[in-house]
Amino acid sequence: MKFRRLGKTGYRVSEIGFGAWALGNAHWGKQSETDSLKALHRAVDSGVNFIDTAAGYGQSEQVIARFRKERKDPMIVVTKTPPGGGHWPPSPYDSVETCYSAEYLRRNVEERLRNLNVECLDLLQLHTWTRAWNRDPQPFLTLRKLKDEGKIKHIGISTPEHDQNCVVDLIRNGFVDTVQVIYNIFEQEAVAEIFPAAKEHDVGVIVRVALDEGALTGRFTNDTKFEESDFRREYFRGDRLPRTVARVEKIRRELDGSGYTLPQAALKFALQPDAVGTVIAGIRNVSQADANLAVSDLPALPQALWAKLREHYWHRGNWHAGNW
Ligand SMILES: NC(=O)c1ccc[n+]([C@@H]2O[C@H](COP(=O)([O-])OP(=O)(O)OC[C@H]3O[C@@H](n4cnc5c(N)ncnc54)[C@H](OP(=O)(O)O)[C@@H]3O)[C@@H](O)[C@H]2O)c1
Repeated sequence: MKFRRLGKTGYRVSEIGFGAWALGNAHWGKQSETDSLKALHRAVDSGVNFIDTAAGYGQSEQVIARFRKERKDPMIVVTKTPPGGGHWPPSPYDSVETCYSAEYLRRNVEERLRNLNVECLDLLQLHTWTRAWNRDPQPFLTLRKLKDEGKIKHIGISTPEHDQNCVVDLIRNGFVDTVQVIYNIFEQEAVAEIFPAAKEHDVGVIVRVALDEGALTGRFTNDTKFEESDFRREYFRGDRLPRTVARVEKIRRELDGSGYTLPQAALKFALQPDAVGTVIAGIRNVSQADANLAVSDLPALPQALWAKLREHYWHRGNWHAGNW
């Protein structure tokens, strides 16, 4: 496993981090705690030192806290606070006070500390944001106070998928230590503004959804059915699944003879920009841990192959856009 610096946090983080959403047994169909714990052990055995979770991921924080009782290895565990009111994503009528009041943030951070069974959070990310709040980003003042009080070490933000660039001003104005962004073979927008701004201001970049929720592993077909409690029933509803599968097939053909499997190429692609600190692959069992963590040690994608993969950019911020 190779390690990279995560911006001004100073953390040296594993290139592949552990995305722990599915461990919460809430939005990804059934997930057994035994599988989750085995996957976490295997990941740490393989050099992972970065785990991403959130208040909204069911029991994920508690599973990680139980895991940390079994394992004393140094680990960076990062979590997220969701809006305490309003809509998701915030509607044009949701004020920042409705979603992230000082009183709510303090209460929510205390809950994160309890769930993770720690005295200080390695990094607290606001789970979503909206551009309208950039004019007066009050929540960061509260978060800075919590930093001074020793409750959180670093402050981050996770982008809303429909307007990831809304964090650029926050980066430029020094509000955040890290940003968490979607970046994968389909969604490449972060290259234009977020990555250069993050590099310039030494803000750490955490890449999420590098496998497009599993699609870029090539496992899905037009007949794939997701369990009742799997959010991908909605995410890939209607014609989204066949449109995605057709595009993944084209990517698979690019990889013929390259020596890279689809998930390997997808993760390597996400690791390619030097602004990126870690790619948090979603992992729910030992075999996914083995497959994904081994990618760090593979050679970087050859320039010519990377250039071909870039061409698979899909402007899908709105699913009805790019309907071809
Ligand atoms: N708004 C936010 O802040 C936000 C949103 C999304 C995610 N995240 C974070 O980012 C992390 C990563 O994103 P994600 O988990 O949503 O998506 P992802 O990494 O694109 O996809 C993960 C899913 O792909 C499948 N998979 C993983 N490795 C595989 C392999 N080698 N072969 C075949 N299938 C494989 C697994 O699901 P199946 O086995 O069920 O197919 C896994 O749960 C999350 O866990 C979470 O920590 C944050």
